[in-house]
Amino acid sequence: MNEKEISLDAREMLAASLAHEIKSPLSLVQANIDFIELCDTEKKHLKNYSVMRNELRKANELVGSLVELAKPDGCRGERIDLRDLALEAVSSYLITPGSEIDFVIKKGDDPLYFMGSRQIFAMLISGTVKNAIEALGGKGKIEIHMFRSGGAIIMTVRDNGCGLTQDALERIGNDEYFTTKRYGNGMGIVICKRIARDHGGTYEINNGKDGGCVVRVTLPPA
Ligand SMILES: Nc1ncnc2c1ncn2[C@@H]1O[C@H](COP(=O)(O)OP(=O)(O)OP(=O)(O)O)[C@@H](O)[C@H]1O
Ligand SMILES: [Mg+2]
Repeated sequence: MNEKEISLDAREMLAASLAHEIKSPLSLVQANIDFIELCDTEKKHLKNYSVMRNELRKANELVGSLVELAKPDGCRGERIDLRDLALEAVSSYLITPGSEIDFVIKKGDDPLYFMGSRQIFAMLISGTVKNAIEALGGKGKIEIHMFRSGGAIIMTVRDNGCGLTQDALERIGNDEYFTTKRYGNGMGIVICKRIARDHGGTYEINNGKDGGCVVRVTLPPA
């Protein structure tokens, strides 16, 4: 193991312990929101509680991802059919009330097995779908295709949203953390790339020929 690998491991351990430490104050804030809401008998601030809860949920998810990503061998795990996992990971987005987003999922009849961690790979799928939804601004189409090609398992996620600016494309190419969203963390794509790599695959995001974005994920079959 060379020096670079040693320092990376140390950074990952630091990320895991920081994530662990952050969980305690987050739980305390959550408990206090519950308490204040209970005391607010006139229910004057329901919207604020819901905003705070939503933000706390995001922070908790992020911390959870850090802990999972830092686990040694976290991505080896089990044999997974990508088709099942993708359906599971996007199911909560399919039933959003009042949504004007069309989901098209093409997955064929044959299983698409790969080796990995369900929990971690689900983060890649939901992070990607979330980006597509956010790019649509409430209305549009998201197509998810899963198939085999040239000995690899491929998943593409295509949206007809706003697409990436030249600046965004460059920053993604440099693996920078960046966001153009008011409440974004700017970590999603970097984490997705890392998850794909840890599963022996690749993650690419580009603009589509007819506008919008296309994410292409490849995985070695198992
Ligand atoms: N499907 C997409 N269409 C258009 N732009 C996108 C798409 N996916 C990502 N982007 C752009 O890339 C930026 C970085 O995405 P990334 O997922 O890394 O962070 P984020 O979505 O801003 O925040 P979060 O960490 O909460 O996911 C986004 O802010 C957005 O500008
Ligand atoms: Mg994102």
